Amino acid sequence: MEQSSFATALLGWFAQYGRELPWRGIGDPYSIWVSEVILQQTRIEQGRDYWLRFMERFPTVEALAAASEDEVLRLWQGLGYYSRARNMHAAAQQIVAMGGFPNTIEGLRSLKGVGDYTAAAVGSMAFNLPAAAVDGNVYRVLARHFGLDTPINSTQGKHLFQAMAQELLPEGEAGTFNQAMMDFGATWCTPRSPRCIDCPVGDTCEALRTGRVALLPVKEKKLKIQERRLIYIYIRHRGMTALRRRPAGDIWQGLWEPLFIEDAPLPDLGCPLTLLASGVKHVLTHRILLADFYLAEPESRPHLPAEYQWIDEQDINNYALPRLVEKLLKRLG
Ligand code: ADE
Repeated sequence: MEQSSFATALLGWFAQYGRELPWRGIGDPYSIWVSEVILQQTRIEQGRDYWLRFMERFPTVEALAAASEDEVLRLWQGLGYYSRARNMHAAAQQIVAMGGFPNTIEGLRSLKGVGDYTAAAVGSMAFNLPAAAVDGNVYRVLARHFGLDTPINSTQGKHLFQAMAQELLPEGEAGTFNQAMMDFGATWCTPRSPRCIDCPVGDTCEALRTGRVALLPVKEKKLKIQERRLIYIYIRHRGMTALRRRPAGDIWQGLWEPLFIEDAPLPDLGCPLTLLASGVKHVLTHRILLADFYLAEPESRPHLPAEYQWIDEQDINNYALPRLVEKLLKRLG
């Protein structure tokens, strides 16, 4: 009984306070999928603009499948976590090869880069499949409402919260309920200043009753984040500069960068190096990067490893660059 009144209250809240997002109410699995991939690591405000541009350039899954990876990465530039874009591009080709968008959870799960969350989100919103989509917001709402202190990033926690959310799904309204939970977590039951006073489900909230709202959800501490020091040297010679495409097996696979040095001394390029900035901090999910930027302006083209290509400096914006390299370019003036 309690659970169904929770769902009813939340759906009522959503009807009044749910966010207006451009991909809502379309029902097109491709549009929904693109929005979900963008929003995996990106805030709604920023994600909305990217989604609009992405849909304008690639309005259908066929258009995305036919694009070059470089063009997809260029549109993605600035969003970070580029494997999302590469996987999405590959998955678009899978979908075209399948003859259409899969409309089951298993079919969705078979697409590159699509995990439980994305399969449930797309499946419920596009096909009304009864699958709970549990993102960070949903973890928080459930942990607080039901007073659950199992760490949300433990295996046990993931199973528990997934089962809990699945149990709560109202029949025939999975897509709406999933989005109601996400919006509620994002705008009402927020991490630091939740609106408990006018909470639509406050009368049955266990955390509120026991004064634990600020203590939930619980997260297990993870290992210390690795720090990497690296150097970029921007070489300028007669309006040309040298870039290479980053290889597989490390961060930023497929993106372009100037001369990259890590765990090695500065090379001799036949001219002095001008230090543009040092210790520039760049935070990724599992790493902190500390970068030094140099400018080299040699009289003649230095010899570089074979993977570097000389390009016209004016064309640099045609290349998909990591954000850290954009920071370097800003310092060049
Ligand atoms: N975050 C990711 N997907 C979302 C959606 N469909 N609605 C609200 N927040 C989201």
